[in-house]
Amino acid sequence: MVRKPTPEDRFSFGLWTVGWIGRDQFGDASRKALDPWEYATKLAELGAWGITFHDDDVVPFGSDDATREEILTTFKKAVDDAGLVVEMVTTNTFAHPVFKDGAFTSNDRWVRRFALRKILRNVDLAAELGAETFVMWGGREGSEYDGVKDVNAALDRYREGIDSVAGYIKDKGYGLRIALEPKPNEPRGDILLPTVGHALGFIAQLEHGDIVGLNPETGHEQMAGLNYTHGLAQALWSGKLFHIDLNGQRSIKYDQDLVFGHGDLLSAFFTVDLLENGFPGAGTDGPMYTGPRHFDYKPSRTEGYGGVWDSARANMDMYLMLAEKAAAYRADPAVQEAMVASGVLELSEPTLAVGESLADLLADRASFEDFDADAAGEREFGFVQLNQLAIQHLIG
Ligand code: GCO
Ligand code: MN
Ligand code: MN
Repeated sequence: MVRKPTPEDRFSFGLWTVGWIGRDQFGDASRKALDPWEYATKLAELGAWGITFHDDDVVPFGSDDATREEILTTFKKAVDDAGLVVEMVTTNTFAHPVFKDGAFTSNDRWVRRFALRKILRNVDLAAELGAETFVMWGGREGSEYDGVKDVNAALDRYREGIDSVAGYIKDKGYGLRIALEPKPNEPRGDILLPTVGHALGFIAQLEHGDIVGLNPETGHEQMAGLNYTHGLAQALWSGKLFHIDLNGQRSIKYDQDLVFGHGDLLSAFFTVDLLENGFPGAGTDGPMYTGPRHFDYKPSRTEGYGGVWDSARANMDMYLMLAEKAAAYRADPAVQEAMVASGVLELSEPTLAVGESLADLLADRASFEDFDADAAGEREFGFVQLNQLAIQHLIG
């Protein structure tokens, strides 16, 4: 039996996750939409601590100010009554046809100006609701054809857009940080900032990069054939892991948004191991993710509302089960022994000794002239055994 999630677990869900009604490229909706606050209330009952949403998930695109005010008042009350935290807010800059060529990087300057206004308005709302993170997923920033987008100019405009928003947050004194969400493709043929690495490189070019980090999603890295846990690791190492989107993906294909762990389970185990226990060498004294455990998945189209709530719960159960197993894995003396044998912990030792110069290294015969490379080449690392122990903990 898995224990019931508690607010201390800090599980949160996008309203658009349980709120997805099953409309896809090939078929109509397979579920009826509920009001946004109904999803929120139910998520709280299931043990979620937080919720997140796009502006348009709550207030339909194009609503007049009075309608917007009225809906937000109802929504805020429901969220408060349910004891939920709005930890993150994001902006829909992909659904309306106006954004068909992007928002910050649309070839049409008026679309870019409109996008900036829509986003700034939503930053105000995020701050008002006490959110700490403002996610920006540029799903439509990209192209299908290489000749139609001047990527040099697009990246200039992307930087202009993000820096404008970040500068606005600073000017207003809001306690918000921006988290960029990479994705390789879908809905565009190719999306700008396709991976964690691209996004880190982009952030380094920003004027206000200090408040801009990442929101990596499991499936998005895996759609590019990349290792999600390594992506999280590099974001953590860079001090840029501001938020996460956990879900499941089975190999390189369209964005499946399965329940967390329903894709690559072994990878999910190591994701949780990293999030909960930190890096093997530094442990919890090293870089740690301190944000919410946020799920961005879609309840399969085959499910009715019974299945929707089961699947929401499955994300949290999966995380809790994996956290338990990862703790047991780290505590197991056999694992600790295998870690020592495999040199995993040796890697934390700097290659040059404290105070050692390159001249010292060049003079150190033991490091080269007398180094027996053939003997060192025979070292057994025992990685397979260590991995087998992880799997035993996972399925044992
Ligand atoms: C997707 C993305 C989105 C974003 C969301 C937040 O592939 O559809 O993951 O769900 O996470 O728009 O900005
Ligand atoms: Mn996704
Ligand atoms: Mn996402």
